[in-house]
Formats: sequence, C-alpha cells, structure tokens
Amino acid sequence: MKKTIRDLKGLKGKKVLLRCDFNVPLDKYGDILDDTRIYAALPTIEYLVEHEAKVIIVSHLGRPKGYDKYLSLFPVAVYLMKWFPNKVKFASEPIGKEVDREVANLKNGEILLLENIRFVQGEEENSPKLVEELAKLGDIYVNDAFGVCHRKHASTYGVAIKLPNAIGFLVEKELKVFEEAFKTPKRPFVAIFGGAKIDDKINLIRNIMDNVMQQGDSILIGGGMAYTFLQAQGIQIGKSIVSLDKVDEAKKVLAEAEKKGIKVLLPVDHVALLKEKDKVVRTKKLSGDMIGLDIGNLTIKMFVKEIMEANQILWNGPVGKYEDPRFKKGTMKIAKAVGKSVAYSIVGGGDSISAINASGVADSVNHLSTGGGASLKLMEGKPLPAIEVIDEV
Ligand code: 3PG
Repeated sequence: MKKTIRDLKGLKGKKVLLRCDFNVPLDKYGDILDDTRIYAALPTIEYLVEHEAKVIIVSHLGRPKGYDKYLSLFPVAVYLMKWFPNKVKFASEPIGKEVDREVANLKNGEILLLENIRFVQGEEENSPKLVEELAKLGDIYVNDAFGVCHRKHASTYGVAIKLPNAIGFLVEKELKVFEEAFKTPKRPFVAIFGGAKIDDKINLIRNIMDNVMQQGDSILIGGGMAYTFLQAQGIQIGKSIVSLDKVDEAKKVLAEAEKKGIKVLLPVDHVALLKEKDKVVRTKKLSGDMIGLDIGNLTIKMFVKEIMEANQILWNGPVGKYEDPRFKKGTMKIAKAVGKSVAYSIVGGGDSISAINASGVADSVNHLSTGGGASLKLMEGKPLPAIEVIDEV
C-alpha cells in the first residue's frame, strides 16, 4: 500500500512540496472555466494547512514552450486565495532566487503557489538539475496530481525519488475508485466509450473485456471511434473518421466480445454533416459524403435503456462532436441518463465531465475523475510512473 498524507507525522513547520494538477481550462481573460481539478485538490491543501506545514505547490498548465502569459497559474492563486484568505502567495517564477526567498519567508500554514513548472526547461525531460532544484525546496514531497501521474517528469517522478514522499487524498481516492470498480464491479457493468480516435481507447476496451467484464455486461461505443467498429462490421460509414489500421483489431474485439457474451452496442443511426452543403441530416445509413458526428435518436434510446439497467457505469469520452452545438445532443442525453441512473457511476474525460456539469447532474455521479490520460492508462491496466515511485507504508 502506498504511503498517504495521513502517514506523514510531524508536519508542523515542515516544507511540503505538493504536486497538483491545476491544468484547468481558462478563457482569454484568465477566468477559470472549470474548477473541478482545483476543487478536488482542496482537501489535501486544507489538511496540510491545518497541520501547519509550509505548503509549496507545483503545477503545470497547458503545454507551453517557454514562458507564456496566457498559461500563467496566477488565476489559480486568486482562486486559492478565496478558499484560504491571507494564506496564499504566488511566486511569479517556478524556480530560482525569488522562489528560494519566498520559501524561506513562508510561515507555518501558509501556501506558496509556484508559476507554471513547464515554463522552465527540464520538467518534461525529468532533468537531474531541475530535480535537484525542486528537491531543495521541500522536506517532504506529496503527489496529489492524479491527472499527470502517467508522466515521468521532474516534478512528478524525479523529485519523488529524492524526498520522503506520500500521495494526497485526491490520488488516494482516484486509485481506490478504479481499483474497486475493476476488482469487484457491480453487474451489469456498462462502459460507455467515445471520443474521436479509437487508438486512444482500444487497449482499455481490451483490458476491460479481458479482465473486468463478464457475460451480461455491455460496452456502448459512440463518437468518432465508433466508425472504425462499424467499418469492421462491413457497415457503410460515408466519409466519417476511421482508423484503417485498427479495423482488424476492432473485428477481433467484436468477435471476442461475442464469444464472452459481452454486448457491444454501436450507433444504429446518426446525425451527419453533408460537408459540401454544410447541411446536417439525420440518417440510419451513412452514404456518399456524409460524415457521422453524433449518435441519432434511436441510438440514444438504445444507450439510455442500457444505462438504466446498469448497476455500475463507466463513461469516458463524448459520443459526438460535443464542442459543436449541432452535434452535442447525444452526449448531453448520455450525461442526463448517467445522472439519473441509480448505478455506481464513474465519469472521466474533459468533455464527458463538462456535459455532466452542464446537465446539472454532477452531484448524482459517484466519481468524477480528474485524470484524462492518467485514468486511461490506469484503465488499460498499466502502471503510473509517478505512483510507482511513491514509498510503500
Ligand atoms: C491532463 O490534462 O490530462 C493532464 O494535466 C496532463 O497534461 P499533459 O497531457 O499535457 O501532460
């Protein structure tokens, strides 16, 4: 079992280097569009503040190439100031003399948020120099950045090796939820997958089918990835997105599912775009130049029925081109159904979470995962490097 923040004794006055994933969407004015990830990290920060540690928070935001004022973490510092009045400071650099000074002046129970760690070179390369510099800032390292645990970076991996370490409450909860959901699933277990590309999800569908699902469970597939499966069944898909190199694998998955008695439900009708005319049509058959971009009403009905019969639901990825209002209906209907269902529900992925929030059903979902790529890796049954390096109890 991994060491958690509860196992850390004598936190008072200790400098705790806390890795968070504050990679949140911002608008052009720097306003935070979705605070799910920051909100989810508050219990760990609160615990450290209450135990009078000196909290130094490291995070990334976006994928900057050097300094980028639009990817500053300052808006996150302002957000934290509301939760911890008079306790939060912001260092306008991620590392360096100013940071050293701020850390030296930090009082017990205060928080110092460092500027975006990806502004400096060496973070993504896990450079030994940056690891040293980060390690100098803390006595203890705590990882509560679930969304970035699949990255072997200086602030997620290298520094954890250098300092006594533990995971925070958010990482602990995410790992526990996925472990229980996969080890002892409530059945029927219904997994809903969507998103543009099959490449991102095929391994996880395999893992779930091989190791978690049984006869009577089902997999609902929508979004761009559905068209590779439809092609594998010999169904016309018009000009919809397809990964030709994955068609054979999709065929194997469908055959295996049938053998195991796992239902795989694919779209039976579509909302499609006729690109030439920029016209949206509803159709059962995607012919000619049609591009399927959302599931149609019959498919919605079929998916919703399955969701309502589930005792455990896992949803990752929109079932249509969610960012375009013409093709978001399917995803919104799935969100509402997941919210209404009495099943134990786990939802992950930016668009799925955004649909859940927009439908006003977030409180009815059992677990909103903060991990994108990290939760996909976990669901594929792969180890997360940033967790691997954390000490055992
Ligand atoms: C995410 O948004 O999935 C995490 O913050 C990781 O970000 P990255 O894919 O840029 O490493």
